[in-house]
Amino acid sequence: MGFVFVPGLLFILIILPSILCKYDDILRSAYQDNEWLVSVRRKIHENPELKFQEYNTSALIRHELDKLGIAYSYPLAITGIVAQIGSGSRPVVALRADMDALPMQELVEWKHKSKVDEKMHGCGHDAHTTMLLGAAKLLHQRQDKLKGTVRLLFQPAEEGGAGASHMIKEGALGYSEAIFGMHVDYQIPTGSIRSLSGPVLAAVCFFAVRLEGRGGHAAEPQSAVDPILAVSFVILALQQLISREADPLHSQVLSVTYVRAGTELNVIPPYVEFGGTLRSLTTEGLYQLRKRLNEVVKQQAAVHRCSAYVDMKDEEYPPYPAVVNDNSLHLLVEKVGRDLLGPENVKVGIKVMAGEDFSFYQEQIPGVMFSIGIRNEEKGSIHSPHSPHFFLDEDVLPIGAAIFTGLAETYLNEYQNSIVK
Ligand code: NI
Repeated sequence: MGFVFVPGLLFILIILPSILCKYDDILRSAYQDNEWLVSVRRKIHENPELKFQEYNTSALIRHELDKLGIAYSYPLAITGIVAQIGSGSRPVVALRADMDALPMQELVEWKHKSKVDEKMHGCGHDAHTTMLLGAAKLLHQRQDKLKGTVRLLFQPAEEGGAGASHMIKEGALGYSEAIFGMHVDYQIPTGSIRSLSGPVLAAVCFFAVRLEGRGGHAAEPQSAVDPILAVSFVILALQQLISREADPLHSQVLSVTYVRAGTELNVIPPYVEFGGTLRSLTTEGLYQLRKRLNEVVKQQAAVHRCSAYVDMKDEEYPPYPAVVNDNSLHLLVEKVGRDLLGPENVKVGIKVMAGEDFSFYQEQIPGVMFSIGIRNEEKGSIHSPHSPHFFLDEDVLPIGAAIFTGLAETYLNEYQNSIVK
C-alpha cells in the first residue's frame, strides 16, 4: 500500500502545489497589468475602425509590442499582425483576436465612449485585442517556461470581411497545429467561461434578389406582370426549405429581412427587391440551402411570369463556414478554465446561429472558439453584442489575458511529446 501511497503523496506535496502555483502566478501577473490593459482597451474603444481599416488599432498594438520587445510580422491582410513568442520550434500554438468595430452609433454615455460617429466596438473586439496583447506580455515574461512556440494573430475584418481567410492566405498560421479564440459573452458572469465540443456557431451567407415583372396601372392588372404577388409566393416557398427539406436535427435558418417595392397606391411596380440571410450548423447544409434558394426563387418567379436575379453577395460578404470545435482542445479549455477560475466557473457552452470567421482557421487546423463572461448587473454589462447599449465589464481583461496564457502554456506542455521530430 505504501508503494501506491508514496506517488500519491508526492503528487499532493510536490506536483499539485506547482500546478496551482503556476496558474496563481499567471493570474497574479495579469492583475498587475490591469491598469495598462484598461488604458489600452479604452484607447481602442474610443477610436473604433471598421473592417480592413484598423490602421490606428494595428499601430497601437505594434507600438505596445515594440515596447515589450516582442517580434512580429506586419502587415498581413492589410492591418493584421502576427507576433511570435517562444523557442521558434514545434509544437506551435496560435491565439487569435479580432480588431474591427461595427458601423453603429454607441448609445452608452460614459467617459470613454466612441469618439467616432456611426462606429462602435459593439462586439467586444477591443477587449479581445487587449486580452491577446495582455497574453503577449505574460508569455514574453514567462518565455523560459514555454515548451514550443506561440503565434498571436491580431486579425482585421471579422465582421463580414472574412479577415481570417486573408490572414491564412498570407501565412498567418505558419506551422501552428492548434488555435484558440475567445469571444466576450454577456450571458455569463465575469470570471467564468463556457465551451462546447462540435458545432457551436453557424455557417452564414447572405442573399439579395431582384424580381422583375412589368409595371402598370393598378386598375388593369391584366396589362401588367405583378412582381408583388410573385414575391409573396416566393417568400412563402422559401420558408418550406427549412420546414420540409432540411433534416430537423441539422439546425438551419432562412430569414428574409427586407422587401422593397413600389411607392404609389395605384401603380403596380416593375420590380421588387428582397434579401436576407441563410444559416446552418453545418457548412454542407449551407451550400445545399444556397443551391435550393437559387432554384426556388427563379422557378417560383417564373410561375408568376417574372424574372429573378439572385446575388449571393459573396464578394461583399464571403460565406463563413460553421465553427466546429475540436473535442480534445475543448477539454483543454475546460481544464485550464477550472484551474484558473475554479470548476464552478466553467460552464457548458451553447450553440448559436451567429457566424464567426474563426471557422476559416478551423478548416486548416483544429481549434476552439469559446466564450468568456462579461455579465455584471451593477456595471450594466447586460446587453447583447451589436446592441448600441453594449457595455463591457473591463474586469474581464486580466482574466482573458491569463486564460490565453494558460491555454498556450498548457497546450505546449501537453503536446510537446506528441510531435514526430
Ligand atoms: Ni464579435
